Amino acid sequence: MSEILITGGAGFIGSHLTELLLTRNHSVTIVDDLSTGTPANVKHLEHHSGLTFVHGDIGNEELLNEVIQNKDQVYHLAAAVGVALIAKQPIETIERNIYPTQLLLAALRERIERGETVTTFFSSTSEVYGKNPKESWTEEDDLVFGATTRPRWSYGVSKAIDEFLALACVKEYNLPIVIGRFFNVVGPRQTGAYGMVLPRFVQAALAGEPLQVHDDGRQIRCFSHVYDVTRAITKLMETQEAFGKVINIGSDNPISILNLATRVIEICGSTSNIEFQTYTEAYDASFEDIRRRVPDLTRIRNMIGDPNEHDIDQIINDVRDSLT
Ligand SMILES: NC(=O)c1ccc[n+]([C@@H]2O[C@H](COP(=O)([O-])OP(=O)(O)OC[C@H]3O[C@@H](n4cnc5c(N)ncnc54)[C@H](O)[C@@H]3O)[C@@H](O)[C@H]2O)c1
Repeated sequence: MSEILITGGAGFIGSHLTELLLTRNHSVTIVDDLSTGTPANVKHLEHHSGLTFVHGDIGNEELLNEVIQNKDQVYHLAAAVGVALIAKQPIETIERNIYPTQLLLAALRERIERGETVTTFFSSTSEVYGKNPKESWTEEDDLVFGATTRPRWSYGVSKAIDEFLALACVKEYNLPIVIGRFFNVVGPRQTGAYGMVLPRFVQAALAGEPLQVHDDGRQIRCFSHVYDVTRAITKLMETQEAFGKVINIGSDNPISILNLATRVIEICGSTSNIEFQTYTEAYDASFEDIRRRVPDLTRIRNMIGDPNEHDIDQIINDVRDSLT
């Protein structure tokens, strides 16, 4: 049984992780400022004796230093997330993704200097690969960002800075940190409010409204179930060789956005049409997309085996069921 801190625990991935760790009898403290998360995500857990919910900002140094005391493990998930949010609020994205991470690393350094080891998971993103044109991305591949006049890249760059900082702390202070780069994690409780494609599509299909596909719909993505992802990250935290490494986490089963829309309509038994929207209509003229985003999963498979038990149809079914 461990004392665990989850930053961003009232968010989509964080709430599933909280649930998983509580079922394994750990004590979990969530800190969440509810900027994109919601108490509804953890409402069903509120009477669990192992759960402590702290409504607050981990960018508040005093609060962070308080909640990190006596924790054996930290899962750092708090961040500004979602392409639509990032396109609209780049300052928020950059500040929210970098400063709290700096504070967290400083607090972890203090703990290790006192001889106290806190194993930590950092959630990064496939966005750090930017628009690298390779068929699939390995963790050692180059990061290829667009111009700074295109705010979209600020998310990937801010997360890349977090990775650099975390890896520097691994090197200089021997901090035990696992860095996971998530690729399109989806499932129940994900909100479509910040541009996430699957909940948007399923909501539209269930309402009989058109599914808005951006550009030509031939963008390639790989979707992984949040259940598989949360299990994978807890396994990585039990795997010695994962520490100090960057690890792709997700599915490597590619699907085009247009095919995803078609599958959603079929699985929801919907009469909805598909409509096409330009990126300028969906975001603004500065928006630049990533055409293909597929991870190379060799590293994670060598460490914990295949992380994916759910295919895209099962994922769509689960999202549909959660919304009906
Ligand atoms: N969902 C994905 O496909 C995906 C892909 C790549 C990376 N990620 C990463 O996974 C993590 C979790 O993402 P998610 O999809 O669950 O998004 P989410 O928005 O649901 O979760 C983020 C949570 O962090 C909270 N938060 C943000 N800033 C905070 C702060 N300063 N203090 C306290 N709480 C704060 C939000 O309120 C929210 O509950 C993020 O770090 C994100 O960058 C997610």
